[in-house]
Amino acid sequence: MAILEIENLYAYYGMAESLHGVSMKLEEGEIVGVIGPNGAGKSTLMDSIMGLVKTTGSIKLEGREITGLDSSELVNAGVGYAPERAHLFPYMSVRDNLLVGAYTARNDIEKNLELVHSLFPVLRERRSQETATQSGGERQMVSLGRALMTSPRILLVDEPTIGLAPKICAGIADALVRLNKETGLTILIAEQNVNFAMQLASHIHVLETGSVAVSGPTEELKSDPELAKAYFGH
Ligand SMILES: Nc1ncnc2c1ncn2[C@@H]1O[C@H](COP(=O)(O)OP(=O)(O)OP(=O)(O)O)[C@@H](O)[C@H]1O
Ligand SMILES: [Mg+2]
Repeated sequence: MAILEIENLYAYYGMAESLHGVSMKLEEGEIVGVIGPNGAGKSTLMDSIMGLVKTTGSIKLEGREITGLDSSELVNAGVGYAPERAHLFPYMSVRDNLLVGAYTARNDIEKNLELVHSLFPVLRERRSQETATQSGGERQMVSLGRALMTSPRILLVDEPTIGLAPKICAGIADALVRLNKETGLTILIAEQNVNFAMQLASHIHVLETGSVAVSGPTEELKSDPELAKAYFGH
């Protein structure tokens, strides 16, 4: 059974329809990429899974319908979310920002902190620093770390590389790959950075103005010259 299955998902902001019948499946242990330009609907898809947007259609977590659940119920059900633009508490320390994520998984605090620190050692060194004074890359690490503090079974990551230098992106990519390999965590990544997404994901869905234009195994999409030219810039 797929860990996450989305079928015929429509999303609405007031009268405006922003997703027009999106379907996709994630198998347990997979990294899946959703790529697309500004306004394609990547964040709307993530917010829809988290119950933050009005939707119709079906979203199932391990076979159980989760549409209608609120965000805290979804976190309890095992969905971790590192949203675009982090939304950290700027005047709280790194450690306290991480602990905000731990309210649903109190028993696992030490274990999860250990995992976060092993992925991002700089967060251990800087645990007392206010996040307001951190670099963009460090804040992105705190955001991912905070989502991991909820002991997720599936992690949603929205544009982890936005505004970051290539070297920092490579560090984030390494951490996500390690996380997936070492803990088997299923990861859904939304990215405009096509190379970043293709480097990590086994399957890619290309979103265009609220619909899935193309889907498939990353290797197949890469080797199709028409698609590569249209979507991947080479
Ligand atoms: N809060 C909102 N109210 C109304 N419309 C919205 C809202 N958020 C997004 N939209 C619209 O929904 C569509 C999809 O936006 P979304 O933010 O999901 O795109 P995105 O792929 O995440 O883009 P980006 O790469 O810029 O983050 C856009 O047309 C956008 O204007
Ligand atoms: Mg977005």
